[in-house]
Amino acid sequence: MNDTFLKACRGEKTAYTPVWLMRQAGRYLPEYRKVRSKVDFLTLCKTPELAAEVTIQPVEILKVDVAILFSDILIPVEAMGMKLEFSESKGPILYDPVRNDVAVSRLRSIKAKEDVPFVMDAVKLLVKKLNVPLIGFSGAPFTLATYMIEGGSSRNFINTKRMMYQTPELFGKLMDKIRDTVIDYLQAQIDAGANAVQIFDSWAGVLSPVDFEAYALPCVQKIVSALKGKVPVIYFAFNGSAMLKLVKKSGADIFGIDWRIDMADAIGMLGSDVAVQGNLDPCTLFGPKDLIRDRVKGILNRAEGAKGHIFNLGHGILPETPVENAIAMVEAVHELSSR
Ligand code: CP3
Repeated sequence: MNDTFLKACRGEKTAYTPVWLMRQAGRYLPEYRKVRSKVDFLTLCKTPELAAEVTIQPVEILKVDVAILFSDILIPVEAMGMKLEFSESKGPILYDPVRNDVAVSRLRSIKAKEDVPFVMDAVKLLVKKLNVPLIGFSGAPFTLATYMIEGGSSRNFINTKRMMYQTPELFGKLMDKIRDTVIDYLQAQIDAGANAVQIFDSWAGVLSPVDFEAYALPCVQKIVSALKGKVPVIYFAFNGSAMLKLVKKSGADIFGIDWRIDMADAIGMLGSDVAVQGNLDPCTLFGPKDLIRDRVKGILNRAEGAKGHIFNLGHGILPETPVENAIAMVEAVHELSSR
């Protein structure tokens, strides 16, 4: 087993910097599109053999040092009692958005092993097949709440913030149900064999620091403390680089960093007692290979002060990305960081 990733998570010395790409299993890969052409996205998530197959694709094609389970952050939301659909043009749609007390009361916290068994079956299949560690994941409560309240993606999150400000108790009740779901869901993935977990807070950055601390952070802290010491916990508050001091209070072991901040400045805000992950603008992969290499080198240098560094993009790889450039990035990380 290649344990470079887990060593870097713990801040131990590694022979080179481990690398993976958020959304590494996805539409930029022809091999993924081939599997996806036969089934819809949700069926792919719910069929363990197929989910495992596409999880392994980027490990073999890109030679990354870790796999991330193929699934979606909205899978447990569907299990909580909402109708979910993925539209090709509009992205995820959640019907009957949660906007009042009746709707919040109707939702249930899930028991993952019973309610989404296919996720754990995929994890179990993968730990048998993989020669690299496997990351399990979940959305963070605030990010999941935005999808549940808005009914899908949003521009200004007015419904979410209205509920937050006008009926904070109702918002809190919703967040607590999601928090309990996330704890059970991540624990179940760990029990099934996941070697690390990542909490995606993709919309944390739409909150002001004061609101992040009041409405989003407490639930993340509870999740992290429930899992602490079991496996490394990565917390990625996308667009949150201006409030990394607060983000650190989550207690996670590794922090995802987007590309809007210099990596050394991010480490300065987080302190040198935690590991970092990310920082390369995903659009760098549309540039020439010497530019990709140059930017990789820059981030490797700027990350030297961290307790550990896992190379990654600052957000998910885009569907239009040339595969050869993703491969070139992984090669550059391995070569330039080799000690
Ligand atoms: O990283 C991986 O390879 C693992 C798989 C993974 C997916 N979604 C597969 C996916 C992971 C970790 C996610 C997380 C996810 N899902 C997040 C957090 C990360 C982030 O991007 O901020 C969010 C916000 C979602 C919700 C979601 N799922 C959206 C907004 C969309 C539509 C946008 C898009 O990219 O199409 C999805 C669909 C989705 N999730 C796809 C994939 C491969 C594309 C579906 C397809 O094949 O048609």
